[in-house]
Amino acid sequence: MSGRVSRVVGALAQATGMRDAVLNEIVRVGESNLLAEVLRVDGEEATLQVFEETSGLALDEPVRREGRWLEVELGPGLLGSVLDGLGRPLDALAARSGDFVEAGMDVPTINPDARFVFRPSHSRGDRVEQGDVVGTVQERGLEHRIMVPPGRSGVIASIQSGEIGPHACLATLADGTVLSLVQRWPVRRPRPAASRLPSERPLLTGQRVFDLLYPVAEGGTVAVPGGFGTGKTVIEQSLAKYVDADLVVYVGCGERGNEMAEVLGDLARIADPRHGGSLLDRMVLVVNTSNMPVAARESSVYLGLTIAEYFRDMGYRVAVMADSLSRWAEALREIGSRLQEMPGEEGYPTYLASRAAKLHERAGRVRCLGMPERSGSVSLVSAVSPPGGDFSEPVTQACLRVAGALWALDPELAHRRQFPAVDTGASYSLYADTLERWFTLHVDARWGHTRSRVLELLQREGELREIATIVGPEALEDGDRLLLSVAAMLREFVLGQSAYQPGDADSPPEKTLALARAAVDAYTRSKESLASGKTFADLDLEAVRRTLVALRDAPATRGSGG
Ligand SMILES: Nc1ncnc2c1ncn2[C@@H]1O[C@H](COP(=O)(O)OP(=O)(O)O)[C@@H](O)[C@H]1O
Ligand SMILES: [Mg+2]
Repeated sequence: MSGRVSRVVGALAQATGMRDAVLNEIVRVGESNLLAEVLRVDGEEATLQVFEETSGLALDEPVRREGRWLEVELGPGLLGSVLDGLGRPLDALAARSGDFVEAGMDVPTINPDARFVFRPSHSRGDRVEQGDVVGTVQERGLEHRIMVPPGRSGVIASIQSGEIGPHACLATLADGTVLSLVQRWPVRRPRPAASRLPSERPLLTGQRVFDLLYPVAEGGTVAVPGGFGTGKTVIEQSLAKYVDADLVVYVGCGERGNEMAEVLGDLARIADPRHGGSLLDRMVLVVNTSNMPVAARESSVYLGLTIAEYFRDMGYRVAVMADSLSRWAEALREIGSRLQEMPGEEGYPTYLASRAAKLHERAGRVRCLGMPERSGSVSLVSAVSPPGGDFSEPVTQACLRVAGALWALDPELAHRRQFPAVDTGASYSLYADTLERWFTLHVDARWGHTRSRVLELLQREGELREIATIVGPEALEDGDRLLLSVAAMLREFVLGQSAYQPGDADSPPEKTLALARAAVDAYTRSKESLASGKTFADLDLEAVRRTLVALRDAPATRGSGG
């Protein structure tokens, strides 16, 4: 059945003759085959969200239903790819149409001409259930596990071995079901897992301030709000490079295109410490920059999460970097206002909070479906860009309510070039207590104690600063002056970390602890000196500074990390 375009407003089109249309189904609009999604059905009328440029679309052009949801192809060949918000590889798009992406172009996510060597782990006659790994493909240093798609099961009637294309028949089940290396999945629906698991270990970020003070659990979620220029993108990029995950999915959502180009160049250049190769080899990038259509910006986050869940289902630990969820929410707002929905706070749709919650729920640690038994995780680190840096605005609040940790960025610190510009007064992690046990067991028994001492110092520093502004710093006692001096060094050398200093951009937990301990111990020793009659002027704080700098600049190798 097909309908006709009756109205076009920006990214929205109205169509008539759409009686049986289903919410969220995919349709093709117009002579140029624009991809669109059904947003609303009202009798014969349907409202369509068009994912591509609608200029040139005319009244009465046909609308064809595709009988499917917005889906993505999942399979070998994903690693290292750069996709647009609809899952089309940018290089393939460019090859077909030059730098301008033609509308309606259907480019498969996975290159149909690629060939992979499949090693089956099952044979004819075996019974398989959903999620079972039927064999593997070696892909860029990663074992790509080929799984029976969710909802499928049966006895294997035939199974291939050796070189095969991504879409070819890989195996058949007795009921006639055909399996290939590639499976499809609707991006808005979370992929199923056997059960949820508690998160007991950290997602090590390589950033001292986060690992030590505000750690995130594997399978956890973090919101990183900060005004313009506070360092959100640099944090997302540093994590993409150094986070201790098997794979990274980087969603560049609505941010500037040239920044994305930089990230890409960077990632391609950096060697992966674990697999050799380049870091890009263990990443998938979803790019929907500010110059691309707004509707696809909204879907790009779901696309990224779906890809992450797919690798999670193989038993991998996946980290998703989203930059930024504010652009995702703005896309929602734009679509909602075009639909003339009743707006909520600041024009955002009233369902913003529930959408944000659902999105965050797709993170987590799970026991995967099928055999062999395995667990996997999706962790989500989302930048949020509140206008004017005001955290009380709806998007920041919606994310805060559901994220397990908050890394609040402070423009004041960024202005003083104290990076990462983390506001230690406002940031927190709900995972800290659980993870302290892990760090204590796997890194050092003194982890928890050191962390508490650092937090105490920072807290006391805050109080003293207030007093100092009233009475003047000279009026402070020697012990308080000592505390302020050590806290300043703590901020500069322990919590501060340059993303651009090759030896220090990634800090293993052992190094993080050594630095924190050096600062905390120096404080204790100096305090004892004061107690034994020395004055502030007698203390050799320059030596402390030298020790910290030396520790920071010493080459570090990442430990096993448990
Ligand atoms: N960890 C860091 N180390 C060194 N410089 C940083 C760091 N974080 C941010 N910066 C500096 O701040 C600038 C702005 O950071 P960016 O991540 O682009 O901000 P945002 O995404 O919040 O607008 C960067 O170009 C860089 O110069
Ligand atoms: Mg940015």
